[in-house]
Amino acid sequence: MNGLNQTALQRTDAGVLDRMAVLGDPLRCRILLLCERQELTVSELCSVLQLPQSTVSRHLKTLLGDGWLEARRDGTSRFYGARQPASATALELWTLVRRELTASRSSREDQRRLLGVLAERPGRSQAFFSSAAGRWAEMRQELFGHRFDLEAMLALLDPDLTVADLGCGTGNLAAALAPHLRRVIAVDESPEMLTAASERLARFDNVEVRQGRLEEIPIGDAELDAATVMLVLHHVASPESVLAEAGRCLCGGGRLLVVDMLPHERESYRSEMGHVWLGFEHKRIETWLADAGFEKIRFTTLTPHQNATGPSLFAASAAKPL
Ligand SMILES: C[S@@+](CC[C@H](N)C(=O)[O-])C[C@H]1O[C@@H](n2cnc3c(N)ncnc32)[C@H](O)[C@@H]1O
Repeated sequence: MNGLNQTALQRTDAGVLDRMAVLGDPLRCRILLLCERQELTVSELCSVLQLPQSTVSRHLKTLLGDGWLEARRDGTSRFYGARQPASATALELWTLVRRELTASRSSREDQRRLLGVLAERPGRSQAFFSSAAGRWAEMRQELFGHRFDLEAMLALLDPDLTVADLGCGTGNLAAALAPHLRRVIAVDESPEMLTAASERLARFDNVEVRQGRLEEIPIGDAELDAATVMLVLHHVASPESVLAEAGRCLCGGGRLLVVDMLPHERESYRSEMGHVWLGFEHKRIETWLADAGFEKIRFTTLTPHQNATGPSLFAASAAKPL
């Protein structure tokens, strides 16, 4: 539907009610919106929408049948793209639906995931794909794995730092940090998590595991150079007080990193995993950090990995004033 041209619309109309029946399904509308922005394969749509192929294929069939989509073969791949609406009514209806949908959380989430999926796509044209650049990107991953470069970047950390991983869970992050820092303190309230963390971290003599709640962190004032609160805030009733506590433990100039979910609509997470918050808006995090006395606040939306099934994440960093 790129470059929609109303004059080109045929006035033959299947009727608004027929059109509404097809566009009455939110999932179909999300598929149409994605395909309007970018031609996509079934598996790419599955990754973006986090749905099984059978579900996506069923909706694609309906959209193709009603003339909203067209399919194009390219080598072994089949790409689905949006077609120009077949009538003025169809265009009017889609314009209305698209406006509503574009502003929705699910659509914003789809767009973020789409970026991740497109980033994983091999070169668009055959020329790029067969070029040295295209081959090297694939070879690099095949030889050395996914994002080893980010782990290597930890070597840039100042080795004199003391850092706490607040809500450390089973200690993944503390284990990644330990080889690069003077001291790591891993804190969590759950004895089960701490048992697993202690096992994982036993090989490091510069890591200390402490049990405690983040509302009352078992670390002295200004003891830390930096702290991380990764995938924890959505579990706590009062994130503001946790951020203020983290601030108390940091020295002047110390930095805090918060990683958590962007707003999402997965209500089931409340009962299944005890989530208190269904993600956080940029503004809310910024306000809480500022209210807790932090400055130099930076908020970044992380690009979702193609195989990740959870909501999109953000990273917010901030500094305690000197
Ligand atoms: C989803 S896990 C994330 C663990 C780890 N940060 C990671 O990235 O894998 C959340 C962790 O936060 C801990 N947690 C939740 N609320 C807490 C609180 N109020 N005080 C201390 N730990 C808490 C839980 O016990 C759990 O280990």
